[in-house]
Amino acid sequence: MAIKYSEKSREFHLYNKEISYIIKILDNNQLGNLYYGKRIHHKESFSYLLEGGMRPLAAYVFEGDTNFSLQHTRQEYPSYGTTDFRYPAFEIKQKNGSKITCFEFEAYNIFKGKKKLEKLPATYVENEIEAQTLEIILYDKLIKTRLVLSYTIYKDLPVIARNAKFLHEGKEEIVLTKAMSCSLDLPDYDYEMVHLAGAWSRERHVKIKSLEQGVQSIYSLRGTSSAEHNPFIALKRPNTTEFEGEVYGLSLVYSGNFLGEVLVDTHGTSRIMLGIHPNMFEWRLKENERFQTPEVVMVYSDKGLNGMSQVYHKLYRSRLARGFWRDKVRPILINNWEATSFDFNEERILKIAKAAKDLGIELFVLDDGWFGERNNDKAGLGDWYVNTKKLPAGIVGLSKKIEEIGMKFGLWFEPEMVNKDSKLYRSHPDWIIHTPNRTASHCRNQYILDFSRKEVIDYIYEAMSKVLREASISYVKWDMNRYMTECYSVVKIAENQGKVMHEYILGVYSLYEKLTSEFPYILFESCSSGGARFDPGILYYAPQGWTSDNTDAVERMKIQYGTSFVYPISSMGAHVSEVPNQQVFRTTPLETRAKVAYFGAFGYELDLNNLSKKEREIVKRQVEFMKAKRELIQKGIFYRLVSPFENNINSWMVVAEDKSEAVVGYYKILNTANDGFKRIKLQGLDSNKKYYINEDKQNAFFGDELMFAGIPVKQEELCNNGGDFSSIIYYLKEE
Ligand code: DGJ
Repeated sequence: MAIKYSEKSREFHLYNKEISYIIKILDNNQLGNLYYGKRIHHKESFSYLLEGGMRPLAAYVFEGDTNFSLQHTRQEYPSYGTTDFRYPAFEIKQKNGSKITCFEFEAYNIFKGKKKLEKLPATYVENEIEAQTLEIILYDKLIKTRLVLSYTIYKDLPVIARNAKFLHEGKEEIVLTKAMSCSLDLPDYDYEMVHLAGAWSRERHVKIKSLEQGVQSIYSLRGTSSAEHNPFIALKRPNTTEFEGEVYGLSLVYSGNFLGEVLVDTHGTSRIMLGIHPNMFEWRLKENERFQTPEVVMVYSDKGLNGMSQVYHKLYRSRLARGFWRDKVRPILINNWEATSFDFNEERILKIAKAAKDLGIELFVLDDGWFGERNNDKAGLGDWYVNTKKLPAGIVGLSKKIEEIGMKFGLWFEPEMVNKDSKLYRSHPDWIIHTPNRTASHCRNQYILDFSRKEVIDYIYEAMSKVLREASISYVKWDMNRYMTECYSVVKIAENQGKVMHEYILGVYSLYEKLTSEFPYILFESCSSGGARFDPGILYYAPQGWTSDNTDAVERMKIQYGTSFVYPISSMGAHVSEVPNQQVFRTTPLETRAKVAYFGAFGYELDLNNLSKKEREIVKRQVEFMKAKRELIQKGIFYRLVSPFENNINSWMVVAEDKSEAVVGYYKILNTANDGFKRIKLQGLDSNKKYYINEDKQNAFFGDELMFAGIPVKQEELCNNGGDFSSIIYYLKEE
């Protein structure tokens, strides 16, 4: 890994074994991009890659010259209004109303390691030899503002992490009306855009479309990253598959409003931008104030979509997620939500916990409804003290009893919310986000607390930490069940209202930071009406998230398959729930429900007392299986084999880093009469090693046989007699 600068050519070359990224200081002192992709040899200059020339209607930078126009130049962090008419990476409104800027190269900095981002989550290094960082400092002398563009290249991963920072020194204030985290110009548009879209209970479905001239975008203006879109875009070549071919991934480490867009211009170049959505964003900078954008993590892979995902998994599991639980296998939990909803008392809870303990489950999670007057979704949010009518011994007493049974205890909170029917709202009606003299819309009868205000966060911190200090709590589920409307903070002056949505998310991060620092051994699981805030920003604080409220095994295959494009298996909460499924009313076999959920942070979400003796035996075996295999599944290398979006079959597998063992999941969605023979071809094994399957030590197969000839899938080995929703798990062990 190196970052080289040539004084002569004024070029920076960042490279490691797999990638090269080349930046040039242009003749007008702004920054151009010469190359980003597979590693190429280092040379003093790649200036021949800078294209230019005369074109009708183009505007040119230098008087008398008809060659150099920013419109034709691939740039690093472009502005609008001089010679480039495409969408810009940033916009600064000045006192005289102008938005024209000119940021020119001033200096650069190359150092080992990676700096922390102020108040924001970001990838990190544990040792400074793991990465190197280039900071390029640009200056606009008219407005006296510095722009620092930061690029970190990791030594052993094809990753460049980018962010931008504005430092204003002028006496006249400026207003940032757009500040994307990165912009990337590529020389052609022969790509397909891959992104993850959906809705509640249909999160992160894979969408792929060809690029066309114009703008194609994804976004959230919902105050969270949302279930509708995920802050991730990949551009792949049309012939790129899961296993081969070029792909560029861009993932934003942020949990609030975002915009991701790909602009294909009239001459067939592509500009990809990702960052905070400019709508609802306006950030005033007075003298000596600064603004830091969130980070974008760019991955280049020539090993297909799986290649890209495996890089994200490794980086996000080990250098984004943090803390005690980062490298630990996750406890197998039981959550009472789908079993009881709000309708429980201590006796019912203990009964569920006891049955779970008998089957080997390790952690009991008490969900919504334990506090205030929370008997339905109309009241109680904000009142974080126990409802002793339901739980006479309190959370302290209940947690003790659960631990006496032999399980750990976890608790649900929804820290950012309040019901009007609550003590908190009655004491502080002005703490909610609302616009004065306008109706405040509700969602699920709840309102959002103004987390852009420190006193509100301090209050919630005190309330939560009191519960966490007093009782014996090993896990917290942090929920967030609505999108933001009528966004306005009553304590801010008019000019600062454009800060509220970003400051809100910074407030959420600050509360997470305080709680995770004070309670380092508690495992935090994020949640947002299922997976509506499942993003890299939250992963920095909570190493796992509830993937979706949809626990139907068939629907879950698509959700987990899509989520795996960016997020590691260890981050995906995945539970076995009752049938008919509460979201889609489908009845799938207990075996298949578990075989899907194994590929995640595994658990149960039902009352096991309602199962037959035979079913409870099955659950016991599932728990044993997961305990034996979770180290491999949660830390191994994940491969998507067959997509449920295009097939009646879904298949995926995890291989140990040393290739000594693997677990394969194969799922048939609907049965077909008189179907053909099926084979599943595996990935990632060692061609020269021999593996036996499912303890059948008499028959061993070379890795190459399993990868190139494949395993013939035997109908009779699938659960449910090979009928609808049947499945099989193959466990491979080196001989
Ligand atoms: C939404 C979550 O996704 C569910 O798992 C559950 O915690 C409910 N909220 C509780 O209100």
